[in-house]
Amino acid sequence: MNTIRVDRDRLWRTLMQLKEIGAYDDDATGLRGVKRLALTDEDAEARRLVVCWMEEASLSVRVDRIGNVYGTRAGTDPSLPGVLMGSHIDTVATGGAFDGTLGVLGGIEVMRAFDDAGITTLRNVEVGFFTEEEGVRFGTDMLGSAVTAGRIPLAQAYALTDDDGLTVEKELIRIGFDGPEHERRPIPHAYIECHIEQGPILASAGVDVGIVTGVQSISWQRLELRGAAAHAGTAPIGHRQDAGLAAAEVVVELRRMCTSGDFGQLRATVGKLAVEPAQTNVIPNLAVLTVDLRNPDDDAMSAAEEHLAAFVAGLEKEHGVSGSFERMAKTAVVPFDAGVQELLARTADDLGLPYVSAMSGAGHDAQEISAICPTAMVFVAGEYGGISHTPREYSHPQACANGIDVLANAVLRLANQR
Ligand code: GLV
Ligand code: MN
Ligand code: MN
Repeated sequence: MNTIRVDRDRLWRTLMQLKEIGAYDDDATGLRGVKRLALTDEDAEARRLVVCWMEEASLSVRVDRIGNVYGTRAGTDPSLPGVLMGSHIDTVATGGAFDGTLGVLGGIEVMRAFDDAGITTLRNVEVGFFTEEEGVRFGTDMLGSAVTAGRIPLAQAYALTDDDGLTVEKELIRIGFDGPEHERRPIPHAYIECHIEQGPILASAGVDVGIVTGVQSISWQRLELRGAAAHAGTAPIGHRQDAGLAAAEVVVELRRMCTSGDFGQLRATVGKLAVEPAQTNVIPNLAVLTVDLRNPDDDAMSAAEEHLAAFVAGLEKEHGVSGSFERMAKTAVVPFDAGVQELLARTADDLGLPYVSAMSGAGHDAQEISAICPTAMVFVAGEYGGISHTPREYSHPQACANGIDVLANAVLRLANQR
């Protein structure tokens, strides 16, 4: 089987250029990181550069109402549903150069490689990037792809606010990415997302690429714990309603739940925790924390959520602190399409690239798009145990190129399917 290869150095140059937008000096690691939260000025500048690269690759670019951007390379029969590649270019506040960007810039590199090889395809081939995948700014992850897939209504997405009360809708308008397209038409023939693994499985197996079997369940909640403020020196220990203490108990209980084995392979993280009034000599009357739960089993996830709710209810009796949860995001386990996984495996074999199959620990736009068309993902190994969401995130140029080679050749086959 003939295979094509992308230009490793050209792909790498674009990854290194894009990481300069939103670059900052990270005190915690001493490294240069990327902070490019969705719909900020930095995201807008990155969007404009990526659109410019799409246009240079002769793609026709369009923007939908939630700000997702697609670039299309026409096939010989544009009436057929096209094959879609993509990911995201927003980052967390302490991000690296590869999370999301590899799938987008890799997709554009695939188009360039097709041009270089003089390839025409039967179906259109598209590359897209989706708005607010990280969920860091507006509190709901996979936002743009979830709107496209119909899971989150556009009006609900528009109304989400950031910490300053700015809405998704106003910010989309402000940065000029409030496009006209209402719905994705036609529904793609298939979607493939190439993404860094963000974990240790591929590196442990000694392979550069992985085929992703699906994405585990994700639950995000905001928990408010309300107690009563009082003097730190005089309020008797037995009479306190310390919201900070209750928050600490929640953090410890979540870890205990993970190690207990009672909730399958649960992972739990409190990534944000703030107390009020935040003074040295005042007992906190309020603690606000986020709870991020991940689980490869939906029943075990439900059991974990129920246990946590009961534990928080018990804090009222124990500490006189009342708790209330607000749902930020929730997705069930998403298995990927067996046929697309099989095509990816055959493609990796043809390229002589060893691979392993693994479920994704992180959330991805592919989990949303899989609701509307056959979908799967290619993973690329990361260094330092695959660490991600920190500036230490790093994948070798050859590993990136190998992952994008799998993407290119699999997309080529799909795009020539009748
Ligand atoms: C996406 O980055 C996630 O939080 O899994
Ligand atoms: Mn990502
Ligand atoms: Mn991420």
